[in-house]
Amino acid sequence: MADSRAIHRHDHTAREAVLPEDAAKILFDGVTFEYIDAQTGERLRAIDGLTAQIRENEFFCILGPSGCGKSTLLYLVAGLLKPTQGKILVGGRVVKGPGADRGLVFQEYALLPWRTVRENVALGLKIRGVSREERDAVARRFIHLVGLDGFERKYPHELSGGMRQRVAVARTLANSPDVMLMDEPFAAVDAQTRAVLQEELTRIWAQSRLTVVFVTHNVDEAIFLGDRVLIMTPRPARVHSVIPIDIPREERSWAHLDRDPRFAALRGRIGDVMRNLGDGSASNHDRG
Ligand SMILES: Nc1ncnc2c1ncn2[C@@H]1O[C@H](COP(=O)(O)OP(=O)(O)OP(=O)(O)O)[C@@H](O)[C@H]1O
Ligand SMILES: [Mg+2]
Repeated sequence: MADSRAIHRHDHTAREAVLPEDAAKILFDGVTFEYIDAQTGERLRAIDGLTAQIRENEFFCILGPSGCGKSTLLYLVAGLLKPTQGKILVGGRVVKGPGADRGLVFQEYALLPWRTVRENVALGLKIRGVSREERDAVARRFIHLVGLDGFERKYPHELSGGMRQRVAVARTLANSPDVMLMDEPFAAVDAQTRAVLQEELTRIWAQSRLTVVFVTHNVDEAIFLGDRVLIMTPRPARVHSVIPIDIPREERSWAHLDRDPRFAALRGRIGDVMRNLGDGSASNHDRG
């Protein structure tokens, strides 16, 4: 990582939690969302007046009890759902629908099983009418970036879970989004693979201008990845707290962090909050 990046990062954590509107890459402005039951008309409030700001190039993690509204929040940023009240701005513009500036990586890999790795990665480009030659070049670049050289012609069923997740990440990156929305992308892989994917994701992110919004259940994962961690209340989701992770990026390798007292302190503090919010699934000790 270049020195200028390290300084830039340091500034991030030192800055105030609240920024002027125009400095935010993503702004949640009093966002409320209610699901409406098609049969009964009954309303279920998933998100309740949530206000928060995410900076450009920030790695922003979201933790919260199961069913609190984390996925719903990502779908709102993706433009797949519309707020019942309030608004979301991305890059200063109100979100009105899906757009190529925002890429979504789901918990399920959502790969097309009848397409090869290369075709899956190049899918968005194909839809946008990019030439065969350019698609292949872009696909090769991102397949390399996620460490899957040599697997271009394989089909999803020939890959491990961790490899499929890499393909999903490569496919999203191939569309060159400004914002990558990730919904528990590593939840289905084993702990060791998960640690590798976490390290790779931060490496890729550090070389880019990507803003990442990363939803997870896992306290360790949030601390490892995040510049800041937003903790949500149980449904209807509000902001419980936003915690800056002031461990320098250079020191964030699992080999190092497992013995780092700052890591232990954050793990204790965030774990306590999660348990008080009634989330029995909040894990302190496993990465998987
Ligand atoms: N399509 C839907 N229609 C009605 N209610 C829904 C729908 N999707 C989600 N909900 C409800 O909205 C609430 C929030 O759901 P959401 O999926 O956002 O939670 P979550 O925080 O992502 O949970 P998890 O951690 O288990 O993934 C839940 O109570 C859920 O039952
Ligand atoms: Mg979810």
